[in-house]
Amino acid sequence: MRVAILASGSGSNFEVIANAFQNGSINGELVFVFSDRRKAFVHQRAEKLHVKSYAFSPKEFTDRAAYEAELLELLQKHEIDLIVLAGYLRMIGKTLLRHFPKRIINIHPSLLPSFPGLHGIEDAFSYGVKVTGVTIHYVDEGMDTGPIIAQKAVVIDRDETLESLTVKIHQAEHELYPKVLAEIIQKGVL
Ligand code: GRF
Repeated sequence: MRVAILASGSGSNFEVIANAFQNGSINGELVFVFSDRRKAFVHQRAEKLHVKSYAFSPKEFTDRAAYEAELLELLQKHEIDLIVLAGYLRMIGKTLLRHFPKRIINIHPSLLPSFPGLHGIEDAFSYGVKVTGVTIHYVDEGMDTGPIIAQKAVVIDRDETLESLTVKIHQAEHELYPKVLAEIIQKGVL
């Protein structure tokens, strides 16, 4: 299976997944990482790991459809089978969803359907729940609404701070995402 990762920011999930491809714990090929931000830190991680990286921003296009059409062309040119979102801070539009049905997956830093949106960790923390976690799910047209593939719980301790919780959530993501990807790719079905 040929995989592309889409990321907007730091790319720590990209890095653990790339490592898992490189050490053989995920079969298949990580073909490239794409970012909608030319200056995202993920490009530096990609360079270090010798993974090809591409970037362009929606601002460089007349509208979102034109941006997605360009992205689709990039994905098709590289014969990508599976798109892995790792901190990609944009909704996926109809163009990509139509061409990659059940072939786009995402990780979200809460136990969905609780705390969707851009601030899953903060929202769970300030609500005061005692257990939160991470969710891997298929992407559909909604925000963090697609069918759930896997979840991992993270306990919020009494003396937890937002900072310590953030570290725990990222650790949980880094454990779960490569494992689930390996399984999906090995079974060859989504
Ligand atoms: C992760 O917390 C992920 O759940 C969310 O965005 C964050 C990306 O972190 N969708 P990183 O760029 O992989 O470090």
